[in-house]
Amino acid sequence: MKLMNAFSLWDDIRIALQIAFFPTIKEVWKKPGLLWPSQWRRLSGIFMAHTWLVFGVGVDENAKVPKARLLSPSDEEKRPQGIVLDLGAAHGHTVKYLDRDRVSHYVALEPNTLMHPKLRSLSSEAGFYESDGSLIMLSCGAEDTKAILSSLKAAGISTDKPPVDTIISIMTLCTVPEPQRTINSLVRDVLKSGGAFMIYEHVLSHRDDVAWWQRFWAPLWTIAFDGCRLDRPTDAYLKMVEIQCADGTKESAWKEWKSWLKEGEDEECLFWHAVGRYVKK
Ligand SMILES: C[S@@+](CC[C@H](N)C(=O)[O-])C[C@H]1O[C@@H](n2cnc3c(N)ncnc32)[C@H](O)[C@@H]1O
Repeated sequence: MKLMNAFSLWDDIRIALQIAFFPTIKEVWKKPGLLWPSQWRRLSGIFMAHTWLVFGVGVDENAKVPKARLLSPSDEEKRPQGIVLDLGAAHGHTVKYLDRDRVSHYVALEPNTLMHPKLRSLSSEAGFYESDGSLIMLSCGAEDTKAILSSLKAAGISTDKPPVDTIISIMTLCTVPEPQRTINSLVRDVLKSGGAFMIYEHVLSHRDDVAWWQRFWAPLWTIAFDGCRLDRPTDAYLKMVEIQCADGTKESAWKEWKSWLKEGEDEECLFWHAVGRYVKK
């Protein structure tokens, strides 16, 4: 692997520091308690909220072809529909890909509440409003499926069976704690039978040399980008999900699935992207 590619993420870290360092210091100046170890996660969230104001736009622009193929394909049947749960919705860069006529509720899950004002505003631009119930904002983590279900219930959605028609994760499963367990419980308890789980994620590379560098940088990257890991095989975790049958045996959770790579991506890219659509039995 070329050293230039192995060290490419330093540019991102430099740019993130340029964007977010001073606004974060300003917050620390106002609230010095943020420097206590117990507050470091919050501090990281402040840094991330500022960074993603700029990075989120660039990343969305760079991903618009695979995102459109995944979320707004010409085959309307394959589009997100019904109750749509967007994991780590951030500042709202995904809501514009949704077909408003097919989506009854946009459930925007974003634990970093500093991102909520822009998320709310872009959701309104796309036709989703809290005032009429079509926008539901959640501030829990994706791993907290109990909180997701109780918030949906409080919004008048029946949770007797898994209620969500479509789960979307755009570069979020790289950040959630215990992603495999989180994916399994989202599929088991939250995703409806026949519902689709759609992902666009940077994942562990299939190339050993690239994967080595991803593992090497992961501890540093996770500090700079609020828990994000470069070395997660999220696409493999999705494929492996199983559900329990009535006789106690286990089988694949998927009726059908298709995954593909981001077209034209350099194999040596540390952010090696996988795209996929998985339909639950
Ligand atoms: C790399 S950003 C991607 C954001 C967005 N999906 C986009 O494409 O612009 C990851 C997002 O996941 C959020 N996040 C962090 N921990 C999370 C968790 N436990 N569950 C869900 N989202 C989380 C972060 O706050 C951040 O907004």
